[in-house]
Amino acid sequence: MASVSGGASVAADAPGDRYRISVCTDGAALDRALAADVSAGLTSLPKDLPPKWFYDDEGSRLFGEITRLAEYYPTRREHEILRRVAPDVAARSGAGTLVELGSGFSDKTRLLLDAMAGAGILRKFVPFDVNEAALRATASGAAAAYPALSVHGVVGEFGKDLRAVPRGGRRLVALLGGTIGNFTGPERRAFLAEIAGMSDAGETFLLGADLVKDRARLLAAYDDAAGVTAQFNRNVLHVINRRLDADFDPQRFTHVATYDEETQWVEMWLRADGPQVVHVRRLGLRVTFGDGEAMRTEVSAKFRPSQIAAELSEAGFAVMSQWLDDAGDFSLTLAERVDGAKP
Ligand code: AVJ
Repeated sequence: MASVSGGASVAADAPGDRYRISVCTDGAALDRALAADVSAGLTSLPKDLPPKWFYDDEGSRLFGEITRLAEYYPTRREHEILRRVAPDVAARSGAGTLVELGSGFSDKTRLLLDAMAGAGILRKFVPFDVNEAALRATASGAAAAYPALSVHGVVGEFGKDLRAVPRGGRRLVALLGGTIGNFTGPERRAFLAEIAGMSDAGETFLLGADLVKDRARLLAAYDDAAGVTAQFNRNVLHVINRRLDADFDPQRFTHVATYDEETQWVEMWLRADGPQVVHVRRLGLRVTFGDGEAMRTEVSAKFRPSQIAAELSEAGFAVMSQWLDDAGDFSLTLAERVDGAKP
């Protein structure tokens, strides 16, 4: 792990410790991870790519656009809940440190930091993200907005780098935006266990999760009229072209969203318009697509509130509070790490 200290806001009481970025996963490590995912995903049936590769700079920009679409309710609903309950979350967690997993420096982060500052307990912010540029912008933005705040950003991947999150102080770990939906059942169990493993008894976890609802609204949220989600979906092909020297023609793939009531999964797919041959030169891989063949690019699981509570308690958390927006579209759950309850 490389560690870099510095930045504009070096503290008087803790020189060099007021602003710090730890890079656990750099560009070369990301290229290796993408290579592994692409060689496995393009040779399986159906073809399958993990959604984390959407988020290069253009993909992150497109996701920002998605969050402002009329059809895409999750961001707005979560914000609505957080505006109402952030002071409650701050008081009940009693945390001086906010650890935010996999999210930019959004309004939501600000609501939590403001609430902790308002309660007079805010000391430290630990943003964690795989995109180094986004992480650095988040870290420096927070340092500028809260001059007394200690900031320690971590660039890393879930599943291997959470151990780099500093311990100590009383922490509130936040996983917002419905990111949890990108994990399938077994992956989610492992990920929640990993978060429980990095938490000490009495520390808290705030989870934002999208809820099961009417199929038409779900599908509209993932297939908007303006075609922004389609562009976002195809962006993963541009990412693979650039990073692995591949020759996908993104315009020859159609965006498809599906919803399966059984699994409670929205899925996004890219469907080949006509038979195609793609070369991934960095991998020496030649891949064929049949006409109409669909490749899955994202799972976005939806939940029932009771299911979220059950999965959290199985991981070693006790639910303190669960809140929904007025329409019942989205949920926030605050849970406390309990001692010895881990399976
Ligand atoms: C960032 C994973 C929460 O699943 O709703 C938005 C990503 N994909 N539109 C989601 C996404 C298509 C989003 N998450």
